[in-house]
Amino acid sequence: MAQPALPTVTLPSGEKVPQLGQGTWHMGESSRLRNEEVAALKLGLDLGMTLIDTAEMYGTGGAEEVVAEAVAGRREECFIVSKVLPENSSQAGTIAACERSLKRLKTDRIDLYLLHWRGAAPLAETLAAFQTLQKKGSIRYWGVSNFDVDNMEELIALNGGSACAGNQVLYNLRRRGIEAGLLPWCRERSLPIQAYSPIEQGRLLRDRTLTGVAIRHRATPAQIALAWVLRQSDMMVIPKATALEHVRENRAALDIALTEQDLAELDRAFPPPKGPRALELL
Ligand SMILES: NC(=O)c1ccc[n+]([C@@H]2O[C@H](COP(=O)([O-])OP(=O)(O)OC[C@H]3O[C@@H](n4cnc5c(N)ncnc54)[C@H](OP(=O)(O)O)[C@@H]3O)[C@@H](O)[C@H]2O)c1
Repeated sequence: MAQPALPTVTLPSGEKVPQLGQGTWHMGESSRLRNEEVAALKLGLDLGMTLIDTAEMYGTGGAEEVVAEAVAGRREECFIVSKVLPENSSQAGTIAACERSLKRLKTDRIDLYLLHWRGAAPLAETLAAFQTLQKKGSIRYWGVSNFDVDNMEELIALNGGSACAGNQVLYNLRRRGIEAGLLPWCRERSLPIQAYSPIEQGRLLRDRTLTGVAIRHRATPAQIALAWVLRQSDMMVIPKATALEHVRENRAALDIALTEQDLAELDRAFPPPKGPRALELL
């Protein structure tokens, strides 16, 4: 099926990935919701949101199985991101974790494989495993998640560390800390950021300012929260939605252009950081 074109973000390799994707945290936890979750991801694919973010952690592997079902017969259209847990991120552990993820995903490759967050394993070991997996063709690119500037500095100082293809971090109206440190650091190096929890897991939705802006645009607060992140065209954004209506709304958020007035109101309600702050996680 021909897909409507979405704006794209360019990876360091030059490959283009849709700016808006789909998250899967909490999918695969209940067999009762499985059909709904698969249907949501499939609808998202039909709407062009072919970037799918998952992790071995989500549903203890169940989310990867949901993804496998959703992408069956259309794997070539998709850009799949998965993640290794820190406790598995030794050199041998990363390779074994990736093999388990590939089985659950029913695919021969993960497009982007991330270290979920920094753990006790030496970074050099995880990096060596990523390089082995990349040589075998099991992963196409590798990157990190929840890495602040200090961790990024340490990573890129390693031999081969500058091949990192991205950093997935918490970013939304209420969590703007990266604007004062990590975001400019990544931009200087053309390293794409993936913004997770862009609507703060639903907790942003009753905010009065967001609601006011939404009314002006005949949109929903969730769409305004997404449009605010999406206006930064070098950032990928991965909301999770199981409700089909939410999937449609999220896709339509790409069509919203926030005005100077909207942005000024949102800045007053959700002020940018005044100086560097430690990276927040969920
Ligand atoms: N790397 C990391 O450490 C990390 C951490 C957190 C998340 N992530 C990734 O980022 C993804 C997104 O983050 P998240 O799941 O934490 O939070 P989120 O995307 O900010 O919020 C998800 C929640 O918002 C609801 N929702 C989605 N679209 C909506 C809409 N248009 N209107 C109203 N409600 C809407 C969803 O409901 P329904 O499901 O009922 O539609 C769900 O309850 C995750 O799924 C995961 O893939 C990564």
